[in-house]
Amino acid sequence: MRSPLAPFPLNRSRRLRQSGWIRDMVAGASLTADDLIWPIFVREGVGIVEPIASMPGVNRLSIDEAVKAANEAAALGIPCIALFPYTEAKDKNSECTEAFNPDNLVNRATRAIKAAVPNIGIMLDVALDPYNSDGHDGFVRDGIIVNDETLMALEKQALVQAESGADILGPSDMMDGRIGIIRQALEAHDFTDVAIMAYSAKFASAFYGPFRDAVGAKGALKGDKKTYQIDARNSDEALRETARDIAEGADMVMVKPGMPYLDICQRVKAEFNVPTFAYQVSGEYAMIAAAGGNGWIDEEKAMLETLMAFKRAGCDGVLTYFAPRVAALLAE
Ligand code: PBG
Repeated sequence: MRSPLAPFPLNRSRRLRQSGWIRDMVAGASLTADDLIWPIFVREGVGIVEPIASMPGVNRLSIDEAVKAANEAAALGIPCIALFPYTEAKDKNSECTEAFNPDNLVNRATRAIKAAVPNIGIMLDVALDPYNSDGHDGFVRDGIIVNDETLMALEKQALVQAESGADILGPSDMMDGRIGIIRQALEAHDFTDVAIMAYSAKFASAFYGPFRDAVGAKGALKGDKKTYQIDARNSDEALRETARDIAEGADMVMVKPGMPYLDICQRVKAEFNVPTFAYQVSGEYAMIAAAGGNGWIDEEKAMLETLMAFKRAGCDGVLTYFAPRVAALLAE
């Protein structure tokens, strides 16, 4: 509802912008460390901090270094980290067997972090792509990414992840029916408290490029993910996907990528009023970091502005590679 404005000069918008204190006083959205989920890339080895070329400032960490990062996150008041495994080519095959290995990298990392930093949340991606020699989020059979056979695999993957101590599972695969299958499996195996943050409105996007680099999926992927991720032209479809995920038992929903899809964030929050998150993805990060690194924009200001935009659009939180920097800045 719009309130009637007095005509100029009785109304002057600039009265409420004239100094810092009054801008703060009337400000709408606010951003705190509680709003942040920090995605971290893990890799094999010890004592390794390996830069990712397409994501300046982001590194792949061996498990011991990931434990240090988790400690740092907890100290900064970041409530949750999301772990993504860099998987070596030798651990990939068309059956994605490494996905259900209870001792795979991401499950070992989860146990190590849970043991060392018990009060930070851990979120894991449920999807086959890091483990798939075909690079897709589902099994590829005769050139088709098959849905129902993939669901069986996602169920197994989710259960080993819950077993290793993950607090939140993030199905990011976009197969039909995955949320229901995973939720029922968790209930049946006494993982009643494991939460699901569904990648509900996940669009087929060019902005995932640096991530595929970071997890080593780039070489394997042939073609695109358009037969399962949402077409960038569609808005109602994103709402239908979200409605279905909630109906199947998702506790929280996500929109991904973030910035180009703020309209979807706003619609999802307004329509469903469930905890709604945006993923500021690797390509969004890369753009800001590259322009900042070149001195073309003020990186810190741009980072804060984008995160505030998610809050303004109605998001309850954001997955962002900027999380530790933002949290440190907010703490100052
Ligand atoms: C895999 C997955 C992707 C991302 C998160 N999980 C990539 C994809 O779907 O190809 C992207 C995250 C990012 O770009 O930061 N299912």
